[in-house]
Amino acid sequence: MFKEEIIKILKKEKIPKDLLQAPPNPEMGDYALPCFSLAKEYKKAPQEIAKDLEKKLKPSKNIEKITANGPYLNFFINKAQYNKEIIEAKLNKKKPNKKTITLDFSQPNIMKPFNIAHLRSTMIGNALSKILTHEGYKVVKINHLGDWGTQFGKMIYAYEAWGNKTELMKDPMHYMTNLYVRFHKEAETDPNLEDKGREWFAKLEQGNKKARTYWELFSKLSLQYYNKTYKRLNVTFDSWAGEAFYEPMLKDTILLLQKKGIVKESEGALIVDLESYGITPCIIQKSDGSTIYATRDIAAAIYRAKTYKFYKNLYVVDVRQSLHFQQVFKTLELAGFPWIKDCVHIPFGTMKFEEGVMSTRKGIIIFLEDVLDKSVEAVEKIIEEKNPKLKDKKKVAEKVGIAAIVFWDLSHDRVKDSTFSWAKVLDFSGETGPYVQYTHARAASILRKAKSSKRIPAYEKLTHAAEKELIKQIALYEQAIEKSADQYKPSILAKYLMTLCQVFNDFYEKCPCNTEQDETLASARVYLVKKTKETLAQGLSLLGIQAPEEM
Ligand code: ARG
Repeated sequence: MFKEEIIKILKKEKIPKDLLQAPPNPEMGDYALPCFSLAKEYKKAPQEIAKDLEKKLKPSKNIEKITANGPYLNFFINKAQYNKEIIEAKLNKKKPNKKTITLDFSQPNIMKPFNIAHLRSTMIGNALSKILTHEGYKVVKINHLGDWGTQFGKMIYAYEAWGNKTELMKDPMHYMTNLYVRFHKEAETDPNLEDKGREWFAKLEQGNKKARTYWELFSKLSLQYYNKTYKRLNVTFDSWAGEAFYEPMLKDTILLLQKKGIVKESEGALIVDLESYGITPCIIQKSDGSTIYATRDIAAAIYRAKTYKFYKNLYVVDVRQSLHFQQVFKTLELAGFPWIKDCVHIPFGTMKFEEGVMSTRKGIIIFLEDVLDKSVEAVEKIIEEKNPKLKDKKKVAEKVGIAAIVFWDLSHDRVKDSTFSWAKVLDFSGETGPYVQYTHARAASILRKAKSSKRIPAYEKLTHAAEKELIKQIALYEQAIEKSADQYKPSILAKYLMTLCQVFNDFYEKCPCNTEQDETLASARVYLVKKTKETLAQGLSLLGIQAPEEM
């Protein structure tokens, strides 16, 4: 807005606004106009042009001073006004823009535990949903559950052969996992089992009652288990339409692709040949007549386009599924759907575990809730050491322990692989969630102690380098959110919050609020602290993280 005012002043002289620059050092003003390119038109040396403009242009309400410096014309903005505007600005979200974004994330596979890849998808998707909503979009959060496929046939077989309801109900997820593991072990020596599994799945696809009842039971138990984790992570969905939901649409989907003339037969299977695009074929029906994952994704995209008329259709899914999305998207493009250009796969890399922490070696399955529990327990210990008198210790530990995992995940560029290390994840002074939460709590504590001063804050007195830096950093907040939204990267916002904390903690050391004698300055600082606290709290909430007042 200060820049706009300068642009207005320049416009009167017909000087193009693009010339305006940030000067290399702040003594030279807040904006600079190099006069070199004006020399031709004005038929004068740049130095003279700058001098002439200095005389001619009048300062305004927000532009305090305009001075010539060699071939440059420098503009000085009204600092008190600038500070006031940033510090007192409301943290609003943008006006709704009527565009709908469908966001496919989390997507665990029924009967299997929630693993780390699902955690990544859940956290990145959840943060994106909040960030995009903040940007004014209407976001439809879809949990595309993996609730269809041959694994159900295997499970039904295993349960019929070896299962027991009492045992199942005691601890459904571990029990189902064990049954599944047993099925695969026994299938190694008994090749008949695979066929038995396929038979059961065929029955399920044909609507067999018994198969259907089992499917419903296993789905229900799995969802109850997932919901416990979602509740802890504070994640909700607008739609739970998983793969099974599209089952009734698959016949028509295949027919439609056939009508478009892009389907070929190959060894009894139906495929879309994508060789000329350098992509392996997209199989839409296997030789035994069953459909696959890709068919269901094709149907789902068509369904979403019709139902939501999306502006963007996003998928937060492991980078290892890139080929799958290339196949699905190319097939839809060849089928002539114009909205395919708005479908985006948002990939993420693998979170690796340090050896000895938790092993992902075959056979050892990481249960997400164990990771969360372990983190919360560790935080409880730290609190016991550092702040044993804290109120609501358990609740705070839960918030901080979960934040540690979530922030760790989100602060890394999603495309890159990262290594999980407990020491780093829980380091209260490192680049972690607890550090950001701790900084927020520190700001809250300053505000609790601040004398309720009736003094009018003297924003012009915020001239210390640490104060200026903090104000500058706060001014970058909206931009950080915008960038996160544009690139679908919560890590940009997470890194911004880290920097804000560092700058704030530097300010905290150098610029005391509660011992400062000049009350009008102290009051301005308190407002700055308040603004920092609000920014941190809102920023964290956009990442799906809570900010306790004390810790
Ligand atoms: N359930 C799948 C898996 O765990 C991920 C689903 C991703 N979403 C989609 N529309 N394909 O591998």
